[in-house]
Amino acid sequence: MQKLLIKGKRELSGTISISGSKNASLPILAACILSSSVKLSNVPFVKDIFTMLDLLKYIGMKITIKKKKGSIKLKNKINNQNNLAPYKLVKTMRAGVLVLGSLLTKYKKAKVSLPGGCAIGTRPVDLHLFALKKLGAKIKIKDGYIIANAKNGLTGAKFKFPSISVGATENAILAACGAKGKTEISNCAVEPEILDLIIFLKKLGCKIKINKRKISITGVNSFISKVNHKIIFDRIEAGTYLILGVLIGKKIIIKQVKPKILKYEIDLLKKMGAKIILYQNSINILKTKKLKKINISTKPYPGFPTDLQAQLMVLMTQANGVSRIQEKIFENRFMHVPELKRMGAKIEIKDKTAIINGPSKLNGAEVMATDLRASVSLVLAGLIAENRTIINRIYHLDRGYESIEKKLKNCKAEIKRV
Ligand code: UD1
Repeated sequence: MQKLLIKGKRELSGTISISGSKNASLPILAACILSSSVKLSNVPFVKDIFTMLDLLKYIGMKITIKKKKGSIKLKNKINNQNNLAPYKLVKTMRAGVLVLGSLLTKYKKAKVSLPGGCAIGTRPVDLHLFALKKLGAKIKIKDGYIIANAKNGLTGAKFKFPSISVGATENAILAACGAKGKTEISNCAVEPEILDLIIFLKKLGCKIKINKRKISITGVNSFISKVNHKIIFDRIEAGTYLILGVLIGKKIIIKQVKPKILKYEIDLLKKMGAKIILYQNSINILKTKKLKKINISTKPYPGFPTDLQAQLMVLMTQANGVSRIQEKIFENRFMHVPELKRMGAKIEIKDKTAIINGPSKLNGAEVMATDLRASVSLVLAGLIAENRTIINRIYHLDRGYESIEKKLKNCKAEIKRV
């Protein structure tokens, strides 16, 4: 099993180009089922994307990857279709369930494995199914599979999500695109990745309007083909490197971003004392001398993202005073805490809140990654720690961070995969 070796305490400087968003690519790839020919660019070549591509191949799509150009061509011939998403492909990546909405729209039936448990919480799919049922799908759960049918197609409906879910909003939009008549959904997630999905679907001819947390969709009968789309930048990757810059940067330049989308994160880091200069498509982070404590809760966009909680916690270990993070999205997303404590961080968990007493000197240790964002927080911790840190189980990291060692080495980090 591969490990990362990091020698910490090296001040970093250099330029980091941000990849395309994994979380925008996944629903957009699922949406490709609707069209017969699509070309996507700026797709990050990370493990989760390859898992989704395997799933689409299984469904019957023809896929050509041009790694050097960073593009993917997807062709969908109706006679090849298979409306089954098997367990072996959905179990490793929950986003596999996103094919449900597109399959129902295109083929009027789908059999998709239940994604099962997940390290950061139970993560059910009840909200996905709630939306599909509102649109007229008949749903059964049998032998670990979701079996969905809409013999005569789906029908537009008006409904409100009882709570906000990114994936359920995406599945609902994908299903409503081909439903008869108008759908009006309230209390939707409005993450930038969902807006990118909507931009893509509009290119396919879908009629979608968004007003705050309300999304209105008028169903169409057919979808446009030969569509090109460039995936939005990965705001979580950008946020991770922003935090890195504040932690140990002399001067880090982050390129290929839209700072407006990162407003919450940038304002928060500035409040903590970070020196950040914004340009139209890039961000400079200069050396920070003294960090102030802060209290924060994770929230759906435009609030602070749960996907940056672990990384921010590492920064809090270096701030002066007691900082607090309340995790409001997932029930079990503090698994990085015991590992950070082994490196010398002073963190206490009380219910859903982590209380971080800083600043504390971190020391290199052998640690274990438990999920995608937890693993990158250990990389950040390793980069600021004394001596050497060994990170085990880095396959989690490869699910979502493109060329992480290369990007860090470009900034003079001492990091090696063995
Ligand atoms: C997406 C992101 C993930 C991010 C999360 C929250 C992708 C591929 N993944 O995951 O990186 O951490 O948003 O921003 O885009 N829930 C239910 N029932 C459901 C669905 C969700 O109770 O049917 C709950 C979840 O357990 C969780 C909360 O709703 O507590 C939010 O989850 P959701 O927004 O659905 O996350 P994902 O779409 O899975």
